[in-house]
Amino acid sequence: QELKLNLEQIEKNGYDHFMLKEIYEQPSAILDTFRGRLLSNEGIIKMSGVEDNLQKFLNAKRIIIVACGTSWHAGLVAEYLFEDLARIPVEVEYASEFRYRNPVISSEDVVIAISQSGETADTLAAIKLAKSFGAFVFGVCNVVGSSIARETDAGAYTHAGPEIGVASTKAFTTQITVLTLMALRLANAKGTMSTSEYKKFLFDLESIPNRVEEVLKSDSIVTEISEKYKGVSNCLYLGRNYNFPVALEGALKLKEISYIHAEGYPAAEMKHGPIALIDENMPVVVIATKKGHYDKIVSNIQEIKSRNGRIIAIVTKGDTTIKEMADYVVEVPETSESLTPLITTIPLQLLSYHIAVMRGCNVDQPRNLAKSVTVE
Ligand code: G6P
Repeated sequence: QELKLNLEQIEKNGYDHFMLKEIYEQPSAILDTFRGRLLSNEGIIKMSGVEDNLQKFLNAKRIIIVACGTSWHAGLVAEYLFEDLARIPVEVEYASEFRYRNPVISSEDVVIAISQSGETADTLAAIKLAKSFGAFVFGVCNVVGSSIARETDAGAYTHAGPEIGVASTKAFTTQITVLTLMALRLANAKGTMSTSEYKKFLFDLESIPNRVEEVLKSDSIVTEISEKYKGVSNCLYLGRNYNFPVALEGALKLKEISYIHAEGYPAAEMKHGPIALIDENMPVVVIATKKGHYDKIVSNIQEIKSRNGRIIAIVTKGDTTIKEMADYVVEVPETSESLTPLITTIPLQLLSYHIAVMRGCNVDQPRNLAKSVTVE
C-alpha cells in the first residue's frame, strides 16, 4: 500500500492531483499533438489518416461527429471549425442517442468518432452502426490501440499522454487541436480559405502552447475567485459561437468534480429561461473574448448585472469595458477566434479544480463517475 502511494506521488510529479498535473501539461501536450503534423513554414499539414482518405472527406455530403461527455464538447467545437473554415456541413451527436434512433446515414457520409479512452461503449456501438451503413469512419482517440482506434477505418491520435484524472482536461484541448488541424487541411484542399489566411492560422496554432502557458499564470486570480464562490449551489456558464461549447465544458467540469449544479448556455439563449434564475446569489461565468460577437456579449453581461448576478468574465487581455461591469475578470491572450476554445477552457478547468479542492472533494476520482464507461 505504501509503495503504491509512493508510486502515485512520483507519477503526480509534485502536483497535489493528477487533474492539476494534466491541466499544466497542456502546453506540451498540444505541442506533441501537432509535432510533425504542422509544418508552418512550408504551409503544410501532414496527417496520413486524412491524406490517405482526402477524397472521402472532400466528397462527403456531411460529417457526423459521434462522442460522449467532454469528447462531445470537442465535437461541438469541431462543428464550428469544419463549417466555418472548410464549409462542410456537420452534425454532432451523442453516441448514445445516435445509435438508438434509426439515423439516416449513407456511404456518402463521413463519421468522426471522438474518444479519449477509445473504449466508450456507446461510441463504439455508434461506429459499428455507421459502418454497417457503409459510412467511412474516422477516429480521434488518445489511447493507442484502443477498441475505437481499431474499429475505425482511419484516424489520428491526440498524443496527449495518459490522462488519469476522471475529469478530462488535456484530452479535450488535444482533441480540439487534432480537429483544428483536420479542418485547416480540408479548408486548404477545398480552397475555402485564402493561402495567406491559412498560413496565418498555422502560425497562430503553433503559438497556442505559449499562450496556454500564459493563461496558466492566471491561477492566482482564479484561486481568489474560487475562494469567493466555493460555497454556491448553482453556477451558470455562458458563451457564444466557438465559446458556447466551452461554456458547456466549463459547467461539466464544475459539476463533475465539485458537485455544484452548473449549466452551460449559449449567451443569447439566456433570455429564454436561465435569466429567471439570476439574482445576487448566482455566479455567471461569461466567456467574452474580443472577437466573436463582443458587443452582443457585452449586452448579455449588462442584462445579468441589472439583475444583480455576479459576473466572472473571461476577457481578452487589455479589455476595459467588461472589467468595469464584472465582479472578476480573467484575462487571456488574443488569438484567432477559431482558436479561442484552446485558451478560454484553461481558466475554467482551474476554477473547477480549485473549488473542488476547497470543498474537500475527491478531485481525481469524483463520486459515481468512471474514467471510461465501457457499459451502457
Ligand atoms: C466518461 C468520462 C468523461 C469522458 C466521457 C467520454 O464520462 O468521465 O471524462 O469525457 O466518459 O469518454 P471518452 O473516453 O470516450 O472520451
